[in-house]
Amino acid sequence: MVPVLRGPRVVLRPFTLDDAPAVYAYASDPEVARYVSWPVHLRIEDSLAFLAASADRVAKGTCRDWCIDYRGQVVGSIGLFDHQPSHERAEVGYVLGRRFWRQGLGSEALRVVLDYAFCDLALRKVVAHVRPENAASRGLLGRAGFCEEGFLRQHLFFKGEWWDVVSFGLLVGEFRPG
Ligand SMILES: CC(C)(COP(=O)(O)OP(=O)(O)OC[C@H]1O[C@@H](n2cnc3c(N)ncnc32)[C@H](O)[C@@H]1OP(=O)(O)O)[C@@H](O)C(=O)NCCC(=O)NCCS
Repeated sequence: MVPVLRGPRVVLRPFTLDDAPAVYAYASDPEVARYVSWPVHLRIEDSLAFLAASADRVAKGTCRDWCIDYRGQVVGSIGLFDHQPSHERAEVGYVLGRRFWRQGLGSEALRVVLDYAFCDLALRKVVAHVRPENAASRGLLGRAGFCEEGFLRQHLFFKGEWWDVVSFGLLVGEFRPG
């Protein structure tokens, strides 16, 4: 269901409950959690619950979550969710620990997942929804060739507030592997 995928530097593999301390290491950082849908992890139990929920979603087939392994340590995660087979579309989301930002690791993990999405799942389109002020995520998507498709007002409700988001999309014919 969630295959191991490899890039030049990263290995994307399914999570296990043993990854909880590594998840806690990045998910307990408020800067890392600022623009993601889940609240900052305050204790290791939050990370265990996150991993259990992820395993549940994966088992139901509604999403694919990978941990990003770099030099033998878990540095973040990336996932495909809201997969709609009849529309040949899914959404991508990602997060990296702060120490690993701006080293091209997000771009590499994204490229690996896009390759899987377009070549193995035969998707036509991958989308992402990003808070307007999240410059890093907008930059990452722009660098990967995504187009900005629109500004969606009060589109998501997370962590007690309505979020405006910019909608990004990449079509299979626009994807440039490697
Ligand atoms: C978004 C995120 C995964 C980017 O990962 P990354 O590995 O740092 O990104 P890369 O190093 O591959 O950078 C790719 C491009 O994104 C842009 N970028 C990355 N960080 C940026 C920043 N802080 N400000 C502006 N642009 C940025 C740049 O254009 C960069 O290309 P360049 O280095 O050639 O200029 C990382 O910042 C992160 O985990 N943020 C917190 C979680 C999050 O917001 N997730 C997304 C929710 S929608």
